[in-house]
Formats: sequence, structure tokens, C-alpha cells
Amino acid sequence: MSASPRIRRLDERLGLSVLRAGLSPVTLVTYARDHVAVRTPSRPDFHFGNTLDLTGVPEPDQLAGFLDRYEQTIGQLGAGHVQLRWETPLDAGAPPAAPTPDTEVVGRARELGLEVSPLTVLLLDQLVPPAGGAAVELAPVPAPDATAGGAVDRRWHATTVLYRYLAGDTPDDWRGNDDGFVAWSVEQQRTLASSGRCQVWVALRHGMPVARLGLLHDRQGLAVVEDVVVHPAHRRRGIASALTHRAVAHHLEVDPSARVGLAADPGGGADRLYRRLGFRPHATIWTAFAAAPAASPAAS
Ligand SMILES: CC(C)(COP(=O)(O)OP(=O)(O)OC[C@H]1O[C@@H](n2cnc3c(N)ncnc32)[C@H](O)[C@@H]1OP(=O)(O)O)[C@@H](O)C(=O)NCCC(=O)NCCS
Repeated sequence: MSASPRIRRLDERLGLSVLRAGLSPVTLVTYARDHVAVRTPSRPDFHFGNTLDLTGVPEPDQLAGFLDRYEQTIGQLGAGHVQLRWETPLDAGAPPAAPTPDTEVVGRARELGLEVSPLTVLLLDQLVPPAGGAAVELAPVPAPDATAGGAVDRRWHATTVLYRYLAGDTPDDWRGNDDGFVAWSVEQQRTLASSGRCQVWVALRHGMPVARLGLLHDRQGLAVVEDVVVHPAHRRRGIASALTHRAVAHHLEVDPSARVGLAADPGGGADRLYRRLGFRPHATIWTAFAAAPAASPAAS
């Protein structure tokens, strides 16, 4: 007689899929036996859109081979950086702290010129309303309409400006910003919004946009909340909590069975905030990254 059937959790290993759920239509995703290749030929500097996502945790001696594969499938298309990602599962009760890296993998990656860093992906368990109501108006940004420069375009522009606060709070922090890349990325969101795959939300205080986020989905039940940004002068008033709650609640009204995920630096303020709203740790994404091409595997 065969052994009793194993019960598998259906939400296993969704971490990297969450990060890919909002990719633009100009990004190509191809699935191979041991990796997923993500390529954006028209935007080789887009890190999330030019990455080799491994389907398992690599052994140290496999990294050089994956770098070769990266070069063949992605680097050849012009990407200056190198990026490999993989995920390790996190218990839903894991504390909001940086997990312990595998020192052998990190050591080998470093020999190859790659720095490895962790990111926590959290999945919604049960949506919990924020404790206090923030005194803001929460508004969906409509999909672009045909009136260039009209009210809808102005709203999109305002949400774009808020992106600078991802880099820091002062003009000195923004000098290194690539405004062209932000504009391109918002253009992708506009395209996705037009096809019903992206909803951008803003929080307004006294009529002025002070916070933004995007909720994007893959049409197959997986959604991701991205780019939650609150203007520094308006932080710690519950605005991000209220905005995230509203965006997710709205999405669940439209698609009650959706899985909703997001990413945060382990143990940071956003990690704490999302847990209070009912998100639970799901996976650590390990990103091995080099801004310039890493050492040639052959030479190492
Ligand atoms: C992370 C970020 C989005 C949080 O926005 P926010 O509007 O300040 O978030 P909230 O006000 O909902 O919660 C932040 C803190 O303020 C506290 N808070 C909320 N309302 C408050 C109030 N009325 N009075 C005092 N504190 C309050 C919360 O308890 C929370 O405390 P904690 O940090 O100890 O956990 C914001 O700091 C930001 O834009 N950072 C830069 C971009 C970024 O890192 N985004 C996250 C990407 S994943």
C-alpha cells in the first residue's frame, strides 16, 4: 500500500513570484529547470527586470555556473549589473530581524564579486485595520485617460514626484536619482493601469498628495504592493498603514481569493508596519548583486 498522501501548502515558495507579479509587459520571463530568467531588453539597467531567479538554494560551487547562465541569457542583452536571487522559507512567526546568511554561499559569492543581501517577503494572512484613523483622504489614481495634461495626468505626476523620497529626505539625497528611470517605471505602471493590472493610490492632506503606493497583480491571483512612500514631513501619523490597508482591502473586494504580498527590509519600520496589518513572513529573498560585471567564472 502506498504511503499516505503528503499534504503540501499551496503557498510554498511564492517569494520570488511575488516580486515578479508586477513586472511590466516589456519584461520577458522564461522558465527553465533550475532558474527563471527575467529580461527587459529595452531597460537593461532595471535590476528587478534583469535577474536570474534560482528555483532552489544554490550550493557554493554552483554560483559560477549560474553567473555564466546570467551572462548568456541577460548580460548579453546589455545589462551592466549582475543579479542572482533565490529564496529560503520563513516561518510565519519569524521575528522581524535579519536572518542568518549561509556563510559559505556568501563567501563564494564575494569571491565572484557579488554582495548578498536579504529582503523579507510577507504574505497577507488576515487583513487587520490600522488602530488609529489617519486624517487623510485616500484616493485611487485613475488609469490614464486621453486628455494629456488633464487632472488625471496631474495626479500621476504628483505620485511620481513622491518617488524622490525613496532615496532620502533632502535634495542632497536626490542628486544621484535617475529621474529618467523613475519616469519610465511610472510609464509602465500607467500601461498596466490601463489594462487593469495596476492600481496606484495616493493619500492627500489638505488636497495635497503626501503618500503613494502601487498594487499590481499578475491576473492569476497573485498581487504585490510596491513603492510605499510617504513624504518625510507627514510620516508617523499612520498614513502608510491607512493607505496600504485601503489598497489591499479594495483589491480583496475585487478578487477575494487573491494572495497579496510585499517586500521589506528585515526588521525595518515597513516590516513592522506590514505585520500589524496582518502580513506574515513567508520567505527571505537573497540577492547576490554586482553593479558591474562580476569576476569571470572561468578566471576564478
Ligand atoms: C516606511 C514608511 C512608508 C512609513 O510611513 P508612515 O506613514 O510613517 O507609517 P505609519 O505612520 O503608518 O507607521 C510608522 C510608525 O509611526 C507610528 N504611528 C502611526 N501613527 C502614529 C501617530 N498618530 N502618532 C505617533 N506615531 C504613529 C506607527 O506605530 C509606526 O511605528 P513603528 O515605526 O514604531 O512601528 C515611510 O517611512 C517611508 O516612506 N519611508 C521611505 C520609503 C520606504 O522605505 N518605503 C517602504 C518600502 S517597503
